[in-house]
Amino acid sequence: MSAPPRHIVIAGAGQAGGRAAEALRARGFAGAITMLGDEPHPPYERPQLSKDMLAAADKPVAYIKQASAWNDLDVKLETSAPVTDCDAGRRTVATADGRVFAFDRLLVATGTRPRRLAQLESCGLEVQYLRNVEDALRFRQSIQGKARIVIVGGGVIGLEAACAAAKHGCQVTVIESEQRLLARAFPAVVSDLVAAKHRSHDVTFRLGATVSGTTPNGLRLSDGTEIAADLVLVGIGVEPVATVAERLGLPAAGGIAVDSCGRTAAPEVFCAGDAALQWSRCHGRAIRVETWANAQNQAIAVAANMIGEPRDYNDPPWFWTDQYDLNIQVAGDMLDSDHILRGDVASGKFSVIAMRGSDIVGALSVNSAKEMAMLRRVIAAARRPARSDLESPAYDLRAALK
Ligand code: APR
Repeated sequence: MSAPPRHIVIAGAGQAGGRAAEALRARGFAGAITMLGDEPHPPYERPQLSKDMLAAADKPVAYIKQASAWNDLDVKLETSAPVTDCDAGRRTVATADGRVFAFDRLLVATGTRPRRLAQLESCGLEVQYLRNVEDALRFRQSIQGKARIVIVGGGVIGLEAACAAAKHGCQVTVIESEQRLLARAFPAVVSDLVAAKHRSHDVTFRLGATVSGTTPNGLRLSDGTEIAADLVLVGIGVEPVATVAERLGLPAAGGIAVDSCGRTAAPEVFCAGDAALQWSRCHGRAIRVETWANAQNQAIAVAANMIGEPRDYNDPPWFWTDQYDLNIQVAGDMLDSDHILRGDVASGKFSVIAMRGSDIVGALSVNSAKEMAMLRRVIAAARRPARSDLESPAYDLRAALK
């Protein structure tokens, strides 16, 4: 058993970093905590960047705490201080401005950044990405002008951005490389429902298409067609920020591998949040969980482990998206499974349960938040109610938890 830490450094001041720092203090850790973030802001929550902040001009940033409150917690928060180097032997990290910080435990919470679309690097068009406060403010400003907006990527970010732009009266086209929207996490029935909802707000889709190049006033697609664009927003997924992991000699291409306590392969180095590659029972493999809930709850659990309080983290992944009047929540894994429909798709209020054999491995709800709350508990507890029960609309999920 190694000695209790005296100085914890948190690389990354996002949701995971912030929640970990808070949890360390809540658990009575009295040593030094230094949190290093590359953004000019204290930690904030990201879901609202593509939701409320685009919908309403007066929506403030959802800071976890104001800067002064970190001071009150005796957390040394350094903003605009990206970590650019890390020395495993000396147990130090360095920031871009040359400062060096010693640690006896390090939490890597550097998260992810948007994948860039190579075809649009240094073209003449206005190209935006949506990941941080500045991106959200810029996009919000851009959609005021009712311009022709082309969105590349029909995933969560692209579609939430499409909602906001359509509501502002922009002419919106979404280009998606798969044959359906949200294919990474949603079953086809819900992809179709979401597409229909967007079409009813005059959003156009180009499915099974990618960007092959640009024209003087827009994009050329893989099928040879051209689309005029005043602005292109790219939302084609994210990739882990790997600087610290690479400096530590940890493989990080698909994420930084951690155990259920958040330990990496490097001594005294932990990882939490979007960048962590963790085992998912629902998926039956290690995955990165890019969700608000994971950034918060994994970080809280890992913080406990960092100060010698063993705590396994294995919450099933869970996220939500808001599109017009649809609130859609997904827990676990909806792909490669049999689906049980509960409720009526046409009513716009239903859920889908994903099964592999007799295991429930995932669930999705549309405008059925209460049912999802129950399903999350059933999945987390690995309960196995009979399929015939789940298929019955009258079956009360609470019975599965008794
Ligand atoms: N051209 C068109 N579409 C593409 C291309 C491409 N070159 N590459 C990928 N796509 C599509 C994918 O098929 C997918 O539908 O872009 C979509 C990206 O969706 P996500 O993987 O969900 O990523 P994104 O929407 O960018 O969200 C990134 O932000 O909201 C958070 O945590 C959330 O993981 C999510 C992250």
